[in-house]
Parts: sequence; C-alpha cells; structure tokens
Amino acid sequence: ADGAGGAGASPGHRDFRTASAPTARVLTTESGAPVADNQNSSTAGVGGPIVLQDQHLLEKLARFNRERIPERVVHARGSGAYGHFEVTDDITGFTSAGFLSAVGKRTELFIRFSTVADNLGGPDAARDPRGFAVKFYTEEGNYDLVGNNTPVFFIKDPLKFPDFIHSQKRDPFTGKQEPDNVWDFWAHAPEATHQVTWLMGDPGIPASYRHMNGYGSHTYRWTNDRGESFFVKYHFKTDQGIRCLSAEQGAELSGTDPNSHQTDLLQSIERGVYPSWTLYVQLMPEAEAADHRFNPFDLTKVWPHKDYPLQRVGRMVLDRNPDNVFAEVEQSAFSPNNFVPGIGPSPDKMLQGRLFAYADAHRYRLGVNHTQLPVNAPKATTADNYGRDGLMATHAYDRHAKNYEPNSYGGPVQSDRPLAAPLAVDGHVGTHAAHAHAKDDDFFQAGELYRLMSEDERQRLIANIAGGLAKVGREDVIEKNLAHFHAADPEYGRRIEAKVRELRED
Ligand code: HEM
Repeated sequence: ADGAGGAGASPGHRDFRTASAPTARVLTTESGAPVADNQNSSTAGVGGPIVLQDQHLLEKLARFNRERIPERVVHARGSGAYGHFEVTDDITGFTSAGFLSAVGKRTELFIRFSTVADNLGGPDAARDPRGFAVKFYTEEGNYDLVGNNTPVFFIKDPLKFPDFIHSQKRDPFTGKQEPDNVWDFWAHAPEATHQVTWLMGDPGIPASYRHMNGYGSHTYRWTNDRGESFFVKYHFKTDQGIRCLSAEQGAELSGTDPNSHQTDLLQSIERGVYPSWTLYVQLMPEAEAADHRFNPFDLTKVWPHKDYPLQRVGRMVLDRNPDNVFAEVEQSAFSPNNFVPGIGPSPDKMLQGRLFAYADAHRYRLGVNHTQLPVNAPKATTADNYGRDGLMATHAYDRHAKNYEPNSYGGPVQSDRPLAAPLAVDGHVGTHAAHAHAKDDDFFQAGELYRLMSEDERQRLIANIAGGLAKVGREDVIEKNLAHFHAADPEYGRRIEAKVRELRED
C-alpha cells in the first residue's frame, strides 16, 4: 500500500486540479476596489499609449517585480507538510519537555525537507544530504529540530561552514558546481571522510523524502524534573522503508522530473497515504561524557548503538499539504535555537554556531517579524513579550499593554524556572586546537561504515567516489583525498586508487 497508489485514500481529499467551484466573485485591486477590465490596459484613445492612471496595471506589474525574496543560502530547494507527533513510550525520566510528558500525547507539527547545495530549481534527485527540519508546535513554545538525513556532518567547527558551502555551491567564475572545488575542500578536511563515505554510498540519493531516515545529528541535552541531565541524539526511522536511487537513476530522474521528491510527497499525502516515522533517542548520562573514548560532541561521529541503544519515543505522521508553497514552505523558518524547557544545547561546537546562524538568516531573508507569520507563530501557546515594531509587524497589542518591563500594569514576567540544569565548564577562553579528545582520529568510523557494506554497496561507493575524483584537475588534490580513504580502511583506499587510475588513463 506504499507509494502514491491510492490504497487507503481518504474520502476527505479533493483532487487539487479540479477543486475550484465556479463562483461569481468580483476581482478587486489590493485595496479592495472592483476591477473593471483584467484583459485590456487603459489607453489614450483606441490604439494609443497606456495612461499612468491605470492603477490596476501599475499595481499588477509592480507586485510581480517583488514576488521573489532571497532564497535560503543553503537548503534552498525543499518541500513541506503538516502532521502530528504522538508519544508512544514513557520518556519522562529523561526530559521534562511538556510535549513528551505522557504516552498518547499529540503535538501538531510542520516539516520541511530539502536538498542542500543547489539553488531553487535544482533537481530533487541530486546526490546530496537531505534536510529534515521539524517544528513542533508545543504548548511551551515551538521546538525546532533542524536535522538532516545523515547522522553525521562534514566538519566539526562552524568556522569552516562558509568555506565548506562555497566549495560545494557554484564557482564564482564558472557559475557551476565544480568537482575541483568540492574535492579540494575535502582534501583539506580529513574529518569529512565519514560523511563523504555516507554521501557517496547508496543513501546519497534517496528515492524520495518518504524513504529516508531523519537525524538530529548533533548531541543535544535533556533535563528531567529532578534536574538531572542526559545527552541525547535523535533518530527518526522511516516507516516506509529506506529506498535509494543509483547514480544512473538519479541522473535520469533529474531530467525527467526535477521535482520528483515534491511530486512524491504531495501526491502521497493528497491520496491519503500518510508517511510516518518512528522517533528513537540515544541517551548518555551526563557524567559519562567527559570520559567517553571519543568526543561525544563531535558531529563527524556517531554513538555506537551497542554503547547507547535506541529507545523509542513516538511516531510522526504527515497528513496535510500546505495550501500555498510560498506562504508556508518558502517563508517557514526553523532555528536550532528554538528550544522548550527540558531540551537544550550540548557543547557541540557546530551546534553552538548554528544557534546564531539561523535566526540571523531569517531576519535577513524574511524580516524581524518572521515569527508572526502563521507557519512560524506558536499554535499551542501565544508569544507574549516586549519585542515591538519593525518592518511588517502585524501583531496589534492591547492599548493597555506596556512595551517595557518591569511594569505595574500586569505585563508578562519571567518564569524563574530554569530551562535546564546548569552545565559545568572549566578552563581558559581560547581557540583550543588541542582538547580533551585531541587523539580522536577522523577515520575509524569511516572505515567501520565501509566494512559494514555488502560487496555490491562497496562497488557502487567506489565507482561514485572514483568517478568524482577522476574529474579533478590537480594530482595533489587527488592524492590527499586518496590518503584519507587509505587511512579509513586499506582495502577501501586501494580500490578507489585503482579505479581512479583506470578512469584517468581512459
Ligand atoms: C538551513 C547555516 C549546519 C541542517 C540553513 C540556513 C543557514 C544554515 C544560514 C538557511 C536558513 C534559512 O534561511 O532559513 C548553517 C551553519 C551550519 C549548518 C552555519 C554549521 C555551522 C547544519 C547541520 C545540519 C543543518 C549540521 C543538520 C544536522 C539545515 C537544514 C536547513 C538548513 C535542514 C533547512 C531548514 C529549512 O528547511 O528551512 N543552515 N547550517 N545545517 N540547515 Fe544548516
């Protein structure tokens, strides 16, 4: 019954292509005045030039010029859906978060899936990580879990993010994505080897957004009612099963339906075949972090499940498409800094960088009042504070509401309840290239991932990596990348090297 086959179609769903009923509504200008003619501009005499007083024409052309806003600097291309999350297992021993406080509790949510590197209009079936950003509309405020379909990432310090992304996006001279830049960055980023192994393997091109897992990727921190803390990693496992495309299938689909993921998600939900994911977490008692055998806050590494087994939390179901892609998907804004009591950040450096980057991007892309847009505003509670004014403020406060605090007029006051237990830190401020886990190597988990693969998977992985590397102009860049794969696993390195040599001799 999986796929857009119509099995289980809900009768409540209209066919969006034939939904509009005939009406006798009158077309108006934006100020609400009736429009007499929407086919012919006003002219001075028959066949004469157009007159400036044609308000409807001026308004229509001027608005059209302003339809586009800056696209997201990464994850520009995406698809969104509404749904809910339902708690299936008691997790209250680990977090006080209200929306996770009782089995059976449901919370409305909005999700946006995305590709990363290409601009708006790029093909959905590209080899790329996929964004997996969830906004839970909880009664304690919106909680945004802004993850990917990969449990790890390419880098571990936010200082490198703009350089990394520049190397993956269009070259400033050629205006194209360049294998030379992509592999040059990775040649200088041994910590990327794990994620590169993941990306170049089968999961690098998911068949659709429904057929992939989602991960919080970072380590986060939960605090329970007793003030005890746990480090936590999130795993959304797809209930549709994982499906991937080969490099050839991806290339073909990118041509025949560049919107393939959008088509799949839209049609599946319209037909009542609602996709779902089961949420699991890995939990590490806070005291174990310092002595862990590698840095548990390093985003290029996973926590082995044998050390920290998956514990089920609940189920996410997507059951409603947005009515308007621009208003609800393009203008949606997710920030890793939107936490709720009982959930907070860990010292993961990448996460710390992201806590700044997103809301800053939203203020640029959507404006300071983006949280007043319906898709971004809290739904199960109300934002109540002294932030005021700014471009496009739509919220009109009561005439008695003061815009300062403290005040004597019954305005909102602080809760005095800490959101999380205090986090102990020591040491000196500095860049600290050497830290407690300085001996962590960047390769062992990449090797472990390679050794987990079947022979067929290894062949496809090696063909994909060698196919990319062989296109690189500089021999030293190729050599540096080969050294990383050799360090991950000798067989892995040897086979890539042989294939690259073979392709370059052709
Ligand atoms: C989007 C920055 C790492 C997942 C974005 C955006 C920025 C950004 C500026 C555009 C936001 C917008 O305009 O709405 C960064 C920085 C990073 C980083 C500075 C590292 C320091 C990551 C990581 C993940 C991730 C590690 C996943 C684990 C996403 C997702 C989106 C996004 C899913 C799209 C959200 C949406 O659908 O609106 N990122 N990012 N990013 N990022 Fe990151």
